[in-house]
Amino acid sequence: MIANVKYVEISTYLADLVDSRLSPGDRIPSERALCQRFGVSRMTVRQAVDVLVNEGVLVRQQGRGTFVAQQKLDLQLRITSFGQEMRMRGMVPSTKLLETDEAVPPTHIAQALALSEDAKTYYVRRLRYADDVPMCVEESWLPHALLPGFFDPAPPDSLYGDLQVRGFRPTWGEDTIESVNLDRAQAALLDVEVGAASIVVTRRTFAEDVPVEFAVSYYRGDRYKLWVPIAQPL
Ligand code: GLP
Repeated sequence: MIANVKYVEISTYLADLVDSRLSPGDRIPSERALCQRFGVSRMTVRQAVDVLVNEGVLVRQQGRGTFVAQQKLDLQLRITSFGQEMRMRGMVPSTKLLETDEAVPPTHIAQALALSEDAKTYYVRRLRYADDVPMCVEESWLPHALLPGFFDPAPPDSLYGDLQVRGFRPTWGEDTIESVNLDRAQAALLDVEVGAASIVVTRRTFAEDVPVEFAVSYYRGDRYKLWVPIAQPL
């Protein structure tokens, strides 16, 4: 016996609608309208919408409705500054400075940067935007002794730009990638719901053989997907 296939018909209809007539951010027809059109219950309509929500085609926003999802950017694991990366994609980058400090960092960060126990780092926490949409929160620690006056009079707009001018152009790095559900504070900054998914990249960056930055970046899971080139087997 064929189970309830009506929901497949509805999700196909909605997918076609997204492809042909709707744009990212548009609202899809209401549950009521879909129930009437297909002569089905709300449960069946929800089942159909669930399929597309799970595929990332639609997003539900509590109390507001269901919308066509924004296209995700490829999160490419390469040593490019955020600003440069966005300009390369034809988007306009901007930054909100959240916090700065000049202090001894946590031990694991000192070790990652090959610093002695009492050595200081420049710390900066920034919210990064593309076309005025908050995309990621980035925390960076950079060796203090290496970069005299780095924060004078304020942290540079582009960390990588300034490193390059000082002869420390970032050339390679090491990443650890995790999925994290955003807490209240991070979610508020990124304008998503508490518990929303994020891709967290922890990176140690080198200029040739000098460690220049330890960074933790929280990328919005609804705006990014990881893109990784696959190497040949050894
Ligand atoms: C990327 C890296 C960060 C780095 C930043 C520098 O986003 N993941 O670790 O701090 O680029 O960007 P900018 O030069 O725009 O400050």
